[in-house]
Amino acid sequence: MKDSYEIAVVHGDGIGPEICAVSIEVLKAALGPDLLCFAEYPAGASHFLKTGESLPEETRHACAQADAILHGAAGLPGVVHPDGTEVGVDFSLRTRFELDLFANIRPIRLYEGVESALSRAKPGSIDYVIVRENSEGLYAARGAGSLLRGDVAVDTLVQTRAGIERIVHKAFRLAQASNGAPEDGVRRVTCCDKANVLRSYAFFRSVFDEVAQNYPDIETEYAIVDAMSMYMVLRPEHYNVIVTENMFGDILSDLAAATIGGLGMAPSGEVGEENGLFQPSHGSAPDIAGKGIANPYGMVLSAASMLDWLADRHSDPRLSQAAERIRQVSVGALAGGCLNSDLGGSASTTEVARQLCDSLAEPA
Ligand code: NAD
Ligand code: IPM
Ligand code: MN
Repeated sequence: MKDSYEIAVVHGDGIGPEICAVSIEVLKAALGPDLLCFAEYPAGASHFLKTGESLPEETRHACAQADAILHGAAGLPGVVHPDGTEVGVDFSLRTRFELDLFANIRPIRLYEGVESALSRAKPGSIDYVIVRENSEGLYAARGAGSLLRGDVAVDTLVQTRAGIERIVHKAFRLAQASNGAPEDGVRRVTCCDKANVLRSYAFFRSVFDEVAQNYPDIETEYAIVDAMSMYMVLRPEHYNVIVTENMFGDILSDLAAATIGGLGMAPSGEVGEENGLFQPSHGSAPDIAGKGIANPYGMVLSAASMLDWLADRHSDPRLSQAAERIRQVSVGALAGGCLNSDLGGSASTTEVARQLCDSLAEPA
């Protein structure tokens, strides 16, 4: 337990600053002004346009030293490196690699009050976690792909035994701690890959099988990623924990978000052995930036995950209690119809913030 925790805040671009500000207000309302100490650092596409740097050294250093990192979102389409890739995503990607944030935990839950795009889905019937490998896979090629003679472009997919083992262990431990799938209460880990076609995914699956031997109490199954994207729409209640390679996890998490109200409802936590970065799954949403309508729930729920992670690391029940309170008031606000326009409501970003902070001010 510490007297206070240093949180490095990187607002980013587009709606990043709008939703990040809400999460800080909510954290302060839940914990008081002193336990978390917020310090803001720049990174992203707008910062690059101003300074020529997307990720300043001071930001890298502060993030590495902080107890946790809170990020809104970064990136502006068209603000790119000479190779055509976006500069704004340097922050997320470099932080993942440099701090070895190998596990990207993305809870997918349909809350009461939120209408799913799936007509049959009821609150509680979608409740699973995507465990995305976050340090290798196709993303290992970031900044290292090659373009030959202007004719052939190559990015290399990398999967290592150590990398697969640690993410698969993470998935099984999450399943052990869970209540199982909504469909049948069974604790189940689904290995999602493309083992039928590519060697690296067949390897992923074989290492998955080896690791699974350590968890005889957990059901296992395989799903090939293309079919998986159909199952997630037709039978989402079947899933408990899904473990998958980096790029597949990226794509499937946005598909999953669509089943629980959209990207605004999708929290995310990226953790390694020593560091944690908490940001929602979505991007900087330039189409709605500056309008005051961004949905902050995914960001607020990511901040609650940050508290749980810190609570666990530092054996600090004050933080886990605050995380639980934040989730409770979020659930209450959603059920009470405090919805932004992406969810069919008319609340502004700040109205959601006010509702959450007012509820936190009431006795539990
Ligand atoms: P996006 O997630 O920003 O937006 C996709 C759609 O979802 C848009 O219509 C947007 O309005 C909507 N949306 C997303 N978050 C929302 C929220 N909180 N409330 C309401 N609606 C929301 O994806 P994109 O448009 O493909 O990418 C935009 C930029 O964000 C790009 O520069 C991309 O590289 C970057 N990006 C950054 C991150 C990150 O920093 N973590 C993640 C993904 C994309
Ligand atoms: C995500 C985002 C990132 C990714 C970007 C910002 C690099 O889409 O966190 O899902 O592709 O992983
Ligand atoms: Mn993504």
